[in-house]
Amino acid sequence: MGIRRILTDREPALHKVCKPVEKFDRRLHKLLDDMTETLAEANGVGLAAPQVGILRRVVVVDTGDGILELVNPSLVETSGEQIGPEGCLSVPGKYGLVKRPYYAKVRAQDRNGEWFEAEGEELIGRCFCHELDHLDGIVYTQVMERFLTEEELMAEDEE
Ligand code: NI
Repeated sequence: MGIRRILTDREPALHKVCKPVEKFDRRLHKLLDDMTETLAEANGVGLAAPQVGILRRVVVVDTGDGILELVNPSLVETSGEQIGPEGCLSVPGKYGLVKRPYYAKVRAQDRNGEWFEAEGEELIGRCFCHELDHLDGIVYTQVMERFLTEEELMAEDEE
């Protein structure tokens, strides 16, 4: 296991379309293990492979129910709408107001290549959409309404 450096959105890797994973081998498992460790260290909710400089379609998510590994994920269903604050480990110290579906369902492969589906509302739906965007080179700042102001950030902290 190892902590990997998290790239900022100024680095070109964050703006590239990632390639599908074809080999479900030890190298992929090491990447997933490292991403999980890196996410935990950073106290994040989700991390996509391009954020650690690997241009493959790999995401790890932890919204409080343990780690979820998504390989080659795609959105298969969304519904509703939510507008709320969103942050990203690659955009440290900032939060933006982003409109996302309320509910999202993804289809993905696990680390051994088995297909499965995962779904969720609120934070989970938001997180799935945010992380899958990363795989297409999209950072939330490109789809947000605007950054939160200092006052709004302080109000969020008090909640
Ligand atoms: Ni992000």
